[in-house]
Amino acid sequence: MSPADSLHPALTAEAKRGGRKLAVLTAYDYPGARLLEEAGVDWVLVGDSLGMVVLGYPDTTHVTLGDMLHHTAAAARGLSHTPLIADLPIGTYETPEAAVQNARALIHVGAHGVKIEGGASHRAQIEALAAAGIPVMGHIGMLPQSVLLEGGYRIKGKTPDASDALLADAVALTEGGAFAIVLELVHPAAAQRITECIPVPTIGIGSGTHCDGQVLVTHDLTGAFPWFCPKFATAKAAVGDAIRSAAAQFAVEVRASKK
Ligand code: KIV
Repeated sequence: MSPADSLHPALTAEAKRGGRKLAVLTAYDYPGARLLEEAGVDWVLVGDSLGMVVLGYPDTTHVTLGDMLHHTAAAARGLSHTPLIADLPIGTYETPEAAVQNARALIHVGAHGVKIEGGASHRAQIEALAAAGIPVMGHIGMLPQSVLLEGGYRIKGKTPDASDALLADAVALTEGGAFAIVLELVHPAAAQRITECIPVPTIGIGSGTHCDGQVLVTHDLTGAFPWFCPKFATAKAAVGDAIRSAAAQFAVEVRASKK
């Protein structure tokens, strides 16, 4: 089965029923993606977190389709069989037609599926993508592309009304044809409720342990962006420190060498 075929909602729903949790990590280039495939992750995501951890922007609102195409193509070259999902960046899926056209560009450079942010308000985009044969993942809860409007990164779904609204969003995206839904900074009780109610996998980030899978920005997991790590992530390596130390050692050796 091709990586793209494995992202069909019927198959992801079957995997969910089988109970195996999905491990998803981000990559933005060839070595990053290749290392993740060698580690055996289930899906690789070229997230628009690219903007912060690679391009040096304060948030994801600066990322362009050109940025995503360039980095998706590089990540795709590092994978032989792992499904690759790419974010449609801000402003590229305002209409169903734009969503399909821009998603096709990401598929053309090697993505097997795309992810868009938004709930029931984006059902038409999800339906159009699914109808065009493009596997699409939803993303609800905290929406990083809306961080400037929202004024920060805050937990969603804390009240019964907010939890109901998130569940309605998740159901709308699922009915629209999403093969999975990212739950970002969703209160754990709301995340558990959504996970129990929808047929396709929920992939949590900062949303507790009751999701069908978990996704992290690889730089947060590896300590490759040592200046910031969100509270919900624990770095399991110190890649930033290792690079600093190797570079410092190199500089010492170069300066000590004879002419
Ligand atoms: O941009 C990103 O990396 C993401 C994940 C963290 C879910 O959207």
